[in-house]
Amino acid sequence: MSEKTFDFDKVIDRRGTYSYKWDQSEKLFGDKDILPLWVADMDFSSPPAVAEAIAKRAAQGIYGYTVKTAAYTDAITGWFKRRHQWEISPEWLTDSPGIVPSLSIAVDLFSEPGSKVILQSPVYYPFYDVIRMNGRQVADNALLLNDSYYTMDLGHLEELMQDGAKLLLLCNPHNPGGRVWKREELVSVGELCQKYNVTVVSDEIHCDLIHKGHQHIPFASISDEFAQMSLTCLAPTKTFNLPGIPVSFVVTPNARLKKKFDFKLKTLSLHMLNFFAPVAVEASYNQGEEWLEQMLDYVGDNADYALSYLSEHLPQLQAMRPEGTYLLWVDCRKLNLDAAGIKALMYEKGKVAFNEGSIFGAGGQGFVRINLACPRSILQEALERFHRGFL
Ligand SMILES: Cc1ncc(COP(=O)(O)O)c(C=O)c1O
Repeated sequence: MSEKTFDFDKVIDRRGTYSYKWDQSEKLFGDKDILPLWVADMDFSSPPAVAEAIAKRAAQGIYGYTVKTAAYTDAITGWFKRRHQWEISPEWLTDSPGIVPSLSIAVDLFSEPGSKVILQSPVYYPFYDVIRMNGRQVADNALLLNDSYYTMDLGHLEELMQDGAKLLLLCNPHNPGGRVWKREELVSVGELCQKYNVTVVSDEIHCDLIHKGHQHIPFASISDEFAQMSLTCLAPTKTFNLPGIPVSFVVTPNARLKKKFDFKLKTLSLHMLNFFAPVAVEASYNQGEEWLEQMLDYVGDNADYALSYLSEHLPQLQAMRPEGTYLLWVDCRKLNLDAAGIKALMYEKGKVAFNEGSIFGAGGQGFVRINLACPRSILQEALERFHRGFL
């Protein structure tokens, strides 16, 4: 194992920094002192090389329109080749300000108004928004849950495709359940999509957050056929804690899909790079790898800590060890509380804010999602507060 050179124990006060997570406790949960472990950003500084590159760019004092160079594309393609054994050709790449905007554009372009678009619940809640707000219907292929382990319901997936759904939003790895889909699972999904001519939009924002013993398989890397029928949404923002910087990329070798996507981005004038994007991307992918390894070790230890705390103090709850992501999905259904009851337990009694599970879909009712990307002392305090809420 590498020497530990980054200090993830360091507590950084994020209050008063326009933080979506830290500066909304009073507004959202009714008390400014509620400890927030909900929205998925980290309470760790980004890799020092990234912070330095951004600081240097900010120091220019002129925040002009920005163009990318070959170094930017090389940083992206080099990372995916090195970390994921996936060769991305530069002409397959389209820059987009965010993954959720890309998902929304894909729904608009690759499904018919009023038609059904497949997601697999419980899932990251904007998946519902981008389907419904574009005037489509959610076709839910709810994940199967056995022994605290999610799998895909392939039989029901096929029925939804027979029923006419032509677009699937895949979350790979899966948020909130933390599953890193295995090759054979993805092959089964892809074969069904091929059979029924379904386009896949694979959201792989969590692809670098993979814990020991697991491997991320990019859906499009499995075969040329899968690559041709899919668009993959990627970003360094989750990996290196840059979600406030609007940068992501969509990858497809399918010229027809890409042309439509690029045209729409241009129509919306979303095709220009953010001023900070090139330096953030290059520093992340070229210099962030060691930081990522150490961060994953730290978050893995946080998962161990939380799992053992919960099994000792709250054995009626069942937490799922994440295979990927820095999110811990905890089954609290034995408490027999509805969403309001879970919220009262967290916010009023415990003074802590995890995500209440039903926002991820009906199957999330009775669960909470805990963000593990924080110093151990914050996690410890949060779990103790939650525990006190039961007393
Ligand atoms: C599965 C998934 N997709 C997308 C996003 C957000 O992407 P962006 O900020 O680029 O829109 C998140 C953030 O938590 C996520 O979990």
